[in-house]
Amino acid sequence: ATDPRELLTLAVEAAEHAGRLAAEGQAKVGVLATKSTPTDVVTEMDRAAERLIRERLLGARPGDSLLGEEGGASGGSSGVRWIVDPIDGTVNYLYGRAEWAVSIAAEVDGEVVAGVVAAPVLGEVYTAVRGQGAWCAGERLRVNEGVPLEMALVATGFGYAASRRAHQARVLSEVLPRVRDIRRAGAAALDLCALAHGRIDAYYERGLNPWDWSAAALVAEEAGARVGGLDGAPVGPDLAIAAAPGLFEALHDLLAPLGADTDGGDGR
Ligand code: IPD
Repeated sequence: ATDPRELLTLAVEAAEHAGRLAAEGQAKVGVLATKSTPTDVVTEMDRAAERLIRERLLGARPGDSLLGEEGGASGGSSGVRWIVDPIDGTVNYLYGRAEWAVSIAAEVDGEVVAGVVAAPVLGEVYTAVRGQGAWCAGERLRVNEGVPLEMALVATGFGYAASRRAHQARVLSEVLPRVRDIRRAGAAALDLCALAHGRIDAYYERGLNPWDWSAAALVAEEAGARVGGLDGAPVGPDLAIAAAPGLFEALHDLLAPLGADTDGGDGR
């Protein structure tokens, strides 16, 4: 069966279980390995939490496939694919901060239909089913509407590579003078959920991976956000922009001429 509500129930169970495991291990965690750069880290807990999620989801639904941040892709032919970030906000996790989350999305035939973002230390679980709204603690979420760019609280994030960061700083230097203020919370999934919750007004970031955005973008969309890239492109690794529709346009038009979907210079 591919009833999105059933997929969500399974995802929430797995996310909460993995979240408890990771929360218990947070105080004593250390860096296990580095990935793209020395500051792009993976902890033992990223791997343990992803293993648990894989076992739970594929144990219940052996025909599904799964894409995980740590373990990569594994195949199945049911048409259902799980997209998993065991710990989004790994650097926050490593530093004993609260802003990290387990993120699980369920895709059916290429479309995300259900998603959960569970932040155990914050005590918050965000869920969405396509067409059925976004929820947290029994409350239906709604993005802030009608906020002009100059009054917008805008969240963003940065990649791990120095060259990308240098350009992101240039883009930010043009954005910062034109908005209310900037936040950098350190977990893309929670930024998108904060948008859904009305705790920020807009979000943009270059360089995200599907496990960072898949579940949370559905939460944001179901709360009324427009989520996408530049010039009508879907959200993708080049650029993610998310906000209520009017503000999306304004932020889009600010970011486009700055080359916010590139790493600057003459290349991409
Ligand atoms: C990172 C966080 C961060 C964002 C990075 C992501 P990770 O995910 O979401 O906020 O700026 O682009 O890679 O590495 O902690 O799973």
